[in-house]
Amino acid sequence: MIAPTPPMGWNSWNTFGGEISEELVKETVQAMIEQGFAEAGYRYVNLDDLWQAPERGADDRLVPDPHKFPNGVEAVADFVHSKGLKFGIYSCVGTHTCARVPGSFAHEELDALTFAEWGVDFLKHDYCYLPEGISGPMLYRRMGQALRATGRPMLFSICNWGREEPWKWAASTGAHMWRTGPDIVDTWESICDMGFRQAGLEVYAGPDHWNDPDMLVVGMYGKGNAAVGQTPTDTDYRTHFSLWCLMAAPLLMGCDVRNLKPAAREIMLNREVIAVDQDPLGRQGFRVGDSWLVGEVWAKPLADGSVAVGLFNRHDTERQLVGVAWESLGIHDRRACIVRDLWAHEDVGEFRGSYSQYVEPHGCALIRLRPA
Ligand code: GLA
Repeated sequence: MIAPTPPMGWNSWNTFGGEISEELVKETVQAMIEQGFAEAGYRYVNLDDLWQAPERGADDRLVPDPHKFPNGVEAVADFVHSKGLKFGIYSCVGTHTCARVPGSFAHEELDALTFAEWGVDFLKHDYCYLPEGISGPMLYRRMGQALRATGRPMLFSICNWGREEPWKWAASTGAHMWRTGPDIVDTWESICDMGFRQAGLEVYAGPDHWNDPDMLVVGMYGKGNAAVGQTPTDTDYRTHFSLWCLMAAPLLMGCDVRNLKPAAREIMLNREVIAVDQDPLGRQGFRVGDSWLVGEVWAKPLADGSVAVGLFNRHDTERQLVGVAWESLGIHDRRACIVRDLWAHEDVGEFRGSYSQYVEPHGCALIRLRPA
């Protein structure tokens, strides 16, 4: 299996857009290692759009932009591999990518072969400049087949923004993950929109095939390509990360890892929260609903018989009491459970029947319920 648990890593788009280079990749890899991200499981280092030159070469192959990647892509992949990490790249099902450099339509076999020769481990495949008369599933099937035919294991990530309900067909094209909505931007509203819209999609996710609510904006603080509104706070980012982990979402950082504030680093390196995302059972959390108390509650069953529960307060200003009843999780009412707070890293105590606590505006209490 290429993706037994949701893929983790970094992608260049959110912060850097087209401002990418061999240098940036090397510095990012260095930072990922020095700051402990690599060790925590973030292992894909992914170039997004605009790594390409504006035209294909004489041999019809994709050509890396010579100014950004003077030593070619293979040298970059080699460097990433030499540090024990994996290398990802980007293309598009259409004639052009979304930033209008050459796409892979009618070149699927050649491009897949080129990526394999370069040592690519991950392909994000976009959905712009579509040829007429061919459906999305069929376009993705072409690249899925081409990748498979190379014989090199490459993670296939579909980026068609949730159009044509990819959760129903994407895995059948060979995809390991698929975007479920539009591009995330660095605001609280976008975080909520991308995250909470996963409700109901939990039946489609599992080991080797994941719903993708898009990259993390944690740590961007209004800097870069995806910054378009009011900058989120650390509380917003903590809720964002909690939600993605409950959703068994891919964890692809979109920030500038080289210049990361300690608070953001701490959020994305919380081992107990990452463990919820990476739990081997591979079940995406489901919406318990507005339970018997106000507020929004999500739950994710875990391999060891415990359940991760998120108690969310989506209000802007008011503190809210949010609670969960055991019966809504399938746990018997009288069963005693140990409640552990995954952000505080401490057991809160033993409870029966239900648990509730006050949650700050935009906040999320992330707990793990372990039947005693
Ligand atoms: C689309 C994708 C983004 C990014 C850009 C690049 O908008 O959804 O994630 O890859 O294209 O142009």
